[in-house]
Amino acid sequence: MSCAKYEFSDALLCHDDELEGRRIAFILYLVPPWDASLGGTLDLFSVDEHFQPKQIVKSLIPSWNTLVFFEVSPVSFHQVSEVLSEEKSRLSISGWFHGPSLTRPPTYFEPLIARSPHIPQDHEILYDWINPTYLDMEYQAQIQEEFEESSEILLKEFLQPEKFAEVCEALERGHVEWSSRGPPNKRFYEKAEQSQLPDILRDCMALFHSEAMFLLLSNFTGLKLHFLAPSEDEPEDKKERDGASAAENTEEGTSHSSSEPENSRGATSDSSLQSDGPTDPEEDEAKKESSVPTCQGELRHWKTGHYTLIHDNSKTEFALDLLLYCGCEGWKPEYGGFTSYIAKGEDEELLTVNPENNSLALVYRDRETLKFVKHINHRSLEQKKSFPNRTGFWDFSFVYYE
Ligand SMILES: *[C@@H]1O[C@H](CO)[C@@H](O)[C@H](O)[C@H]1NC(C)=O
Ligand SMILES: *[C@@H]1O[C@H](CO)[C@@H](O)[C@H](O)[C@H]1NC(C)=O
Ligand SMILES: *[C@@H]1O[C@H](CO)[C@@H](O)[C@H](O)[C@H]1NC(C)=O
Repeated sequence: MSCAKYEFSDALLCHDDELEGRRIAFILYLVPPWDASLGGTLDLFSVDEHFQPKQIVKSLIPSWNTLVFFEVSPVSFHQVSEVLSEEKSRLSISGWFHGPSLTRPPTYFEPLIARSPHIPQDHEILYDWINPTYLDMEYQAQIQEEFEESSEILLKEFLQPEKFAEVCEALERGHVEWSSRGPPNKRFYEKAEQSQLPDILRDCMALFHSEAMFLLLSNFTGLKLHFLAPSEDEPEDKKERDGASAAENTEEGTSHSSSEPENSRGATSDSSLQSDGPTDPEEDEAKKESSVPTCQGELRHWKTGHYTLIHDNSKTEFALDLLLYCGCEGWKPEYGGFTSYIAKGEDEELLTVNPENNSLALVYRDRETLKFVKHINHRSLEQKKSFPNRTGFWDFSFVYYE
């Protein structure tokens, strides 16, 4: 048993409670007079054919001296919705009765998101879009040095001001079709429909997919995201790289993270954001392979209630994350919406990336690093006081693989 106190903006996002031997979950509420407008409801989810939570089908309002209990099972997805009262706290005692475990249905793995190689594109696109400071060779060398030191960097005022303003304006004008991304035990945010994008936003997506961008990112990071990018740390490895590729080339097909063999891919740089855990030199060798660099990306809208979660089957791999933020005027870290990187199996936070107008964040992560976007709580509604036309912010989120 434990006692839990939820106060303003506290929530417990969608989960199923399943852990070895838990059979019945119970909660005894010790709350002052309460109603739905105060939040803090116990929401129960329906599930789809893969035993993934789908939507809220019942909301229980806590009340003094009421006991709630339910069977812990593969379908017992529930959440405690955010507490909206600034005065009252939601106090409860909760725990589990244990017994022999039930057999679980096989783990469901989501289909892989398609990754694509760069789109052939002239260098001109960089001069059209990017702050010229970042195209200066000496400055790129400095950025690379810093990146190799810390595995992350924030490049402010990344796009040219006129381009950035056009992008923001297109997003604000609202001619974008958004679709909600779930399931709720893994994520909740809005993703732009690619096929419907206004020209300026489609061009911006194309920029991040472009050959020129793969080269620029190689220069910023020292990663080999293009065959022309210099590979400084492996002059002697060419033969080995060519020979080692057969096994790894099946990689696109192995979407099942937990059954994936321990041989990895990706890093030729040794500067990934990583935990203090031991690094296996053999694993480092296995990384040196020849494959075509790829990326995947989406344009996302973040607002109150949105989040992503780390879950049991979160995939970890070597990858370069890129985030470019728009429309974050007046956004504060206490609203949530920042991206947090943590070491697998530990609570240790390695890095936080905060949304910031026209800032490009680059983070290189390893196979022990997980990330999530912090739940955006109701404090974020305060943004409207200073920026009445604003609802949350947007980001271009891309991931690059060597
Ligand atoms: C963010 O960018 C937009 C578009 O250029 C601009 O209107 C706004 O003032 C910027 N906000 C901040 C805080 O820089
Ligand atoms: C990357 O750096 C090389 C020099 O090392 C330079 O020739 C090339 O133009 C740079 N690429 C980009 C996209 O800036
Ligand atoms: C908000 O939008 C309205 C209508 O589009 C506009 O008239 C107004 O100037 C905007 N306010 C701000 C603070 O941008």
